[in-house]
Amino acid sequence: MSVAYLNGEYQNLEQATVPVLDRGFLFGDGVYEVIPVYAGKPFRFSNHIKRLHKSLSAILMSFELPESEWLGICEELIARNEFDNASIYLQVTRGSYIDRHHDIPALDTPTVFAMISPLPPVQKDWQVADIKSYSVITEEDIRWQRCDIKAITLLANCMLKQKALESGADDTILVRNNEASEATSSNLFIVRDGVIITPPLSEHLLAGVTREFILALAKQHEIPYEERPIPEHELELADEVWLTSSTKEIRPVIRVNGVTIGEGVAGPVWCRMYQYYQELKEQLYLGQISDEAVL
Ligand code: PDD
Repeated sequence: MSVAYLNGEYQNLEQATVPVLDRGFLFGDGVYEVIPVYAGKPFRFSNHIKRLHKSLSAILMSFELPESEWLGICEELIARNEFDNASIYLQVTRGSYIDRHHDIPALDTPTVFAMISPLPPVQKDWQVADIKSYSVITEEDIRWQRCDIKAITLLANCMLKQKALESGADDTILVRNNEASEATSSNLFIVRDGVIITPPLSEHLLAGVTREFILALAKQHEIPYEERPIPEHELELADEVWLTSSTKEIRPVIRVNGVTIGEGVAGPVWCRMYQYYQELKEQLYLGQISDEAVL
């Protein structure tokens, strides 16, 4: 059984409980982060904590902890669970109040929760065949207008993901005003004629830490990229389609609505980008670089 963190205490995950009056339980009133850990070290930690604080401020919570305190909680979880490669889930809700009211209480009494689950180990010599490729469908984005906030209210995301699974696909790319924005828990990239393209940041998608990292890698390695809207019909015309997140890293998509993308296998630009990503993880693993020094 893994050890979790709840409001200052470390305890067995299955025994950790919150009061039914918690606004996270009643209203979905809270935000979260998912942070990958390689070789016992959180990856892109500052970026995740900055986004967590941004989400908190966007939902009108004044609560913040110094980054060193968040790091302390994460390091303690890593140590207590003895995971080398893992993902840490951090959640902050507005906490419990005496009554169920839609008014946002003036004082924050946050519930702070964190748990950890294992991720596959760093792979030094990977083969394309080892990487699971995705089939996706597209669907109208039925979520709200503030998808830039990493809110815990994920019912629409779950329903949209379930639609994909029920049609034999792996995930759903979301479409608003005929433009593809992201998938149910990852950002979207396509490649056309060697150029990497991803939708620009807006309130319709999450500013992914992996998204930002990939753009920085593209810049470093002089691979051309554009941040511009992707009309839905362009997905099927793309040479490559990828989904990116902290837990999926860079996931090649080889089918969109039953149409084969490119050659039907992970493409050459994906292979380059995936290799750069793995090399950085390996360097981190070997202690050759620190998280702060990664790009
Ligand atoms: N999801 N878009 C959405 C809607 C997401 O939920 C996520 C991450 C991303 C990618 O963000 P990042 O690269 O910072 O992980 C984009 C996490 C992993 C989750 O909900 O489990």
